[in-house]
Amino acid sequence: SRAILDPANIEYTSDKQKRAVAELVEDFTVTPEMLKAIKTNFIESMGKGLERDGETLAMVTSYVMGRLDGSEVGSYLALDVGGTNLRVVSVHLNGGGQIATRQTKYRINENLKVGDAKSLFDFMAVCVDSFLDEHQIVVRGDSQIELGFTFSFPVLQTSINRGTLITWTKGFNASGMVGKDPVAFLQDAFNRRHLPVRVAALVNDTVGTLLAHAYNHPETCMGIILGTGCNGAYIEKMSNITKWKGETPAEEMIINMEFGAFDKERVVLPLTMFDNKMDRKSVNPNKQILEKMIAGMYLGEITRNVLLNLIDRRLLFEGNVSADLNQMWTFETAYMSTIEADNSPTLHATRKILESTLSFSSTTLNDRQVVKLIVELVGKRAARLSAAALAGILEHTGAWQQKAAIGIDGSLFEYYPSFDTDIMDGLEEVFGPEVRKNVSLGLAQDGSGVGAALCALLASKYS
Ligand code: GLC
Repeated sequence: SRAILDPANIEYTSDKQKRAVAELVEDFTVTPEMLKAIKTNFIESMGKGLERDGETLAMVTSYVMGRLDGSEVGSYLALDVGGTNLRVVSVHLNGGGQIATRQTKYRINENLKVGDAKSLFDFMAVCVDSFLDEHQIVVRGDSQIELGFTFSFPVLQTSINRGTLITWTKGFNASGMVGKDPVAFLQDAFNRRHLPVRVAALVNDTVGTLLAHAYNHPETCMGIILGTGCNGAYIEKMSNITKWKGETPAEEMIINMEFGAFDKERVVLPLTMFDNKMDRKSVNPNKQILEKMIAGMYLGEITRNVLLNLIDRRLLFEGNVSADLNQMWTFETAYMSTIEADNSPTLHATRKILESTLSFSSTTLNDRQVVKLIVELVGKRAARLSAAALAGILEHTGAWQQKAAIGIDGSLFEYYPSFDTDIMDGLEEVFGPEVRKNVSLGLAQDGSGVGAALCALLASKYS
């Protein structure tokens, strides 16, 4: 596990600074008792979401039933919207767990995210159009390419390729979409451009990640995203989904939990004033509270708020801010990864970020140590809160007692130092050491693309 820079080893500039740092350590530490209390509350929220719609945890029924065994074959397109980039992927499932993909990323500019929905979906169609050109994918006659649409927002699904948007998350806020069907919007946009593409499946990235991981690891029971946003999906027994009406077509179904919304009531999460400030200034205040304490979109801004507070109290950088750090959202979570990994005695990489990237004219070793400590506190808290959520799912399903694979995708899990070991340590606090033998956390890179293709394939099996 990661050692947090020992606060006792910092040479403080004053007692006041020392006390301020000690207070931060206290506010950002998730003790084992807190972790367990959060886990217990999380399990209660899961139960409520399985009983009825409109609860804090949406516990969306994905309409994806049955497990995969890697034998599936076919060619599909996937469109992945909901992270920093939009991606179009062509996926060839060759059986035997073999997959070949080609993908192109497109940047979604900020205006599109908060403009009108039609422009956003037209942009998606333009990207798919140019992807077909670029990869010379030709469609003959009246045939159509089947596309799996990974739309990673809370969508109340009514079938495998139908649903309504509950709310936007992660900085998206395009008008006229809430309550509407994203598949209809996308299909219309394709039709306007006469693209021979049919939207066969609507998939959350967590569900896609679960499916993609299961293609190679049949004992997969969960798909988790720790990236721009955070969320999880798992396999649930139909008999536990008490809100399900009508026939029960299978024994199990994948549930997209939308767990980033956890603790809307703010009863268990250890929110600080720095979290509250970031939330207040976000495009979706009072929503996605857990996501805002874990996900990559927000960690940098929380850290920035802590730094500004110390600067305003003249306890850091001699009370001076740089023009860059003074702007919202400039402290990227990627900088945190670099700072976490910086173990040089002079904190050289940290210096480079502060002085070259964020344009501080100079920094002292003390400044850099305090910055690194704060980064570590915010990062470790995020990992431990992720552990609490994962522990909740593992306990609810009982999966921790058997061989269970968890597929995880997202920049935080992939790049943030020690995120995985911190999660495992948290799981051990809850379940004891045997959890290490049973449960594996695996990187499911590009899960959403492959998963969307698998979902399109499953959709054709159901119909
Ligand atoms: C947000 C979205 C959710 C998605 C997650 C990870 O929480 O609401 O649907 O799975 O981000 O991308």
